[in-house]
Amino acid sequence: MNAGPLTPRALMSLLANGAKAMDVVEAALELGVLDALESAELTVAEMGARLGLVPGRLYKALDCLESLGLVRGRSAGDDPLLTRYAGVPGLKEAALAVAGPGALERDRDRYPWRVLHGRLPEVLRGTLSIPASDFGWPPDETQLAGFERSMAAGLGPFVETFRSHAPRLFGASSFRLLDVGGGDGTLAAALLASSPGLRADVFNLPAAEPLVHRTARDSGQEDRLGFVGGDFLTGPLPRGYDGMSLVRVLHDWPVSTARTLLEKAHRALEPGGLIMISEEFRTPERLAGQFFWSYFLIGVDACHSRLYDVDHYTRLLSETGFAEITVLPGPVELILAVCDKETGAATNDRGMDGE
Ligand SMILES: C[S@@+](CC[C@H](N)C(=O)[O-])C[C@H]1O[C@@H](n2cnc3c(N)ncnc32)[C@H](O)[C@@H]1O
Repeated sequence: MNAGPLTPRALMSLLANGAKAMDVVEAALELGVLDALESAELTVAEMGARLGLVPGRLYKALDCLESLGLVRGRSAGDDPLLTRYAGVPGLKEAALAVAGPGALERDRDRYPWRVLHGRLPEVLRGTLSIPASDFGWPPDETQLAGFERSMAAGLGPFVETFRSHAPRLFGASSFRLLDVGGGDGTLAAALLASSPGLRADVFNLPAAEPLVHRTARDSGQEDRLGFVGGDFLTGPLPRGYDGMSLVRVLHDWPVSTARTLLEKAHRALEPGGLIMISEEFRTPERLAGQFFWSYFLIGVDACHSRLYDVDHYTRLLSETGFAEITVLPGPVELILAVCDKETGAATNDRGMDGE
């Protein structure tokens, strides 16, 4: 059977049974069904025998997975036990990402989204919000450690992209990087581990200092990983760096704020300095992955979270005085650009806020 895109009616049926659908996925993961589906196209009878499962029950669970578009079945006549099933590519990896140990979805569930649940009409009419004491933006001192931990848990694809381009980014014999809004320093520490000529400072709100020091200690990078406390909304960015990275930072602010931040970076960098932007640039896949935050942040007005496409940033970069804009590929793209004081003259002279 060829699944094709789901109709709205089919999607709604699946959504209404979402908890049960995840129950099937989790059981299939636990029982080795997903491994079996990836290893060969087996009949239900063969899979049941291999895994010690009752074939007359297993085919119904496989029907559930097929209705989700996660497996494809090829019938051979009327007997459901002779239907051959194969998993779609990436099935087990995806199931592990959302239901395995360390799943991001589980981490997100810790946030107080239940404040909104069932009350979205009030939220959308503006009479109910997530209290800042539960989740503020930026997070307050009591919330920051938990938030940065959540962020660090999702850094894998960013580390991979940065590392795969490290020779181009930090290839010089010595390179000083400022990771602006750099969380608890997890990304910086991972980059230091694979780039010997690199030194990195994390720029973050002062409450993040002990978190970054702990990361530096735990990763054995105390000599090369530093911290600069500050507020990029109200103050300038520090000078003295060969490059600045902004990872999952710009998309949390209105476009005007993102632009001001890029102007501040431009002012702080020397001509030829590098700017690196990476975040989940907008695709249907990433928008789906962002579902939790899109939902939860409906109740947090201070956070303007939105996924933008790559072109949005290449435009902002060229408007704020950066040149040689290149989009580097990876699990998440990385936009690299060079500070060009010639083209940046107009923005530099405007005397932006905070300086
Ligand atoms: C979405 S997190 C991304 C963290 C990290 N770059 C990552 O990708 O895991 C945004 C970061 O910006 C920092 N941040 C938010 N507002 C800030 C401000 N006004 N000044 C400096 N840092 C800020 C947060 O503390 C947090 O570390």
